[in-house]
Amino acid sequence: MYSELIFRQLFDATSSTYTYLLADPITRQAVIIDTVFEQHLRDRALIEELGLELVTTLDTHCHADHVTGAWLMQQATGCRIGVSRRYGAAMQGADMLLDHGDIVVFGHRHLDVRATPGHTDGCVSYVSDDRRMVFTGDALLIRGAGRCDFQQGHAGTLYHSITEQLFSLPDDCLVFPAHDYSGRTMSSVGEERVHNPRIGGHADERDFVGFMENLNLPHPKQLAVALPANLRSGQPADGQVPRLADWGPVRQTYAGLLEIEPEWVAEHLSEVLVLDVRQEGEVDARLGHIQGAQILPLNTLKARLAEVPQDRPVITVCHAGMRSGQATVILRQGGFTRLANMRGGMLLWHELDLPVEAAS
Ligand SMILES: [Fe+2]
Repeated sequence: MYSELIFRQLFDATSSTYTYLLADPITRQAVIIDTVFEQHLRDRALIEELGLELVTTLDTHCHADHVTGAWLMQQATGCRIGVSRRYGAAMQGADMLLDHGDIVVFGHRHLDVRATPGHTDGCVSYVSDDRRMVFTGDALLIRGAGRCDFQQGHAGTLYHSITEQLFSLPDDCLVFPAHDYSGRTMSSVGEERVHNPRIGGHADERDFVGFMENLNLPHPKQLAVALPANLRSGQPADGQVPRLADWGPVRQTYAGLLEIEPEWVAEHLSEVLVLDVRQEGEVDARLGHIQGAQILPLNTLKARLAEVPQDRPVITVCHAGMRSGQATVILRQGGFTRLANMRGGMLLWHELDLPVEAAS
């Protein structure tokens, strides 16, 4: 059965990396391509908020410029880790070793794997089952091609990968690379075949190799860190999942806010400060307030930050959990580090039948 894709393109500004989330809207099964370690919480929040079940995290290749988020994603969701089989025993942690002709299934949809070596030995491109999209990693970039001067790179090999495996796709097939450094987000096969200054137009193999051998690029800054970590599929050297907070199960939303569940707050009231940022008149008999809450309306918070004690984690609360989210931003700007917004505010607190005190 064919269904349109859920599709998101995400960007890491530090490494200029694109991450792609694809899902089947019927089964909600998803794959994510080329995650970035530091963006794990963002990507994971998006998956959760869209109600998706991540089945596989894929890398187009062993990256040299950032650490993959694959291992973190597997720890969080139990998904499989897919990468090229051609890296051999050097690559640890992947449980789905891929090669040319394999398919990666998510729900009723799948990606076809095409081997596109040249930038590295194990570079693959992922083609959507309808051939409308190709995720080219660092093989074919927008108006460029991945460097071939380290990590088993070979420009002649890359020439054949691009011309035979990628330029053979339909002209209107959209090209989504792993990086762009100039704000471009996508291209198409037809467009690159004509306009790519390294391999488009009438460039032959000798032209391409001559170009690629004279790029004179600096060595990637992240190489010494990224390569060993990526050969462990992004598992940190200490094997530990970094924690967002040492005091409670704080999560980060896709909006970038720190959030905590009301049930946890109810069970740990003595360990935290509940900061209620509703207007005074709003803390009424109907919704009441949480026992021990400090009332400090949002519009006065910035001026009265000194009144908020810093000896305990601060949980911000409001009517529905929106203004209290903004309160965490103000607190953070004021130097608070242990803080979280209580999800759903007093409305959810009531829905969950958690205890309230009437306003005095
Ligand atoms: Fe790369």
